[in-house]
Amino acid sequence: MSLPTEVIEENKTEIKKDWQPRVIAFLCNWCSYAGADLAGTSRLRYDSHIEIIRVPCSGRMDPLFILKCLEKGADGILVSGCHPGDCHYATGNYYARRKFATFRKLLEFCGFDLRRIHFSWVSAAEGAKWSKVVNEVISQVREAGPIANMYSRRENKL
Ligand code: FES
Repeated sequence: MSLPTEVIEENKTEIKKDWQPRVIAFLCNWCSYAGADLAGTSRLRYDSHIEIIRVPCSGRMDPLFILKCLEKGADGILVSGCHPGDCHYATGNYYARRKFATFRKLLEFCGFDLRRIHFSWVSAAEGAKWSKVVNEVISQVREAGPIANMYSRRENKL
């Protein structure tokens, strides 16, 4: 989904100079968390504006966790789990993928900026992929701007 140019320009002008994105990442314990750990121990550089919450499996993710984070001021969300076929609970990531796809469609229907919501597969051996994913996600969240702007624009239009 692309936004009209005037909305993007309006968003850019409202961003305070010292604003930094706050992105919450839900990582499955067995793959993505270990991949993030590997990135750290390998001293790979990636954007530091990400806060990690470890969950037992991506299948444990509830869309309400995401909504709660956004309500509390997170500018973006990343959910990451084991690659399909590698889930330590066999099918957890398949459930996560379905839940997330449906949730994204619902958010899109509501007019939510999908640059704020991301899902990825990162294994324990993919430290480099983890750093790339984080940089891409944070770059998109920076483009989307502070979430507070989204709420204020909506209130102004009501
Ligand atoms: Fe990693 Fe299920 S254990 S996604």
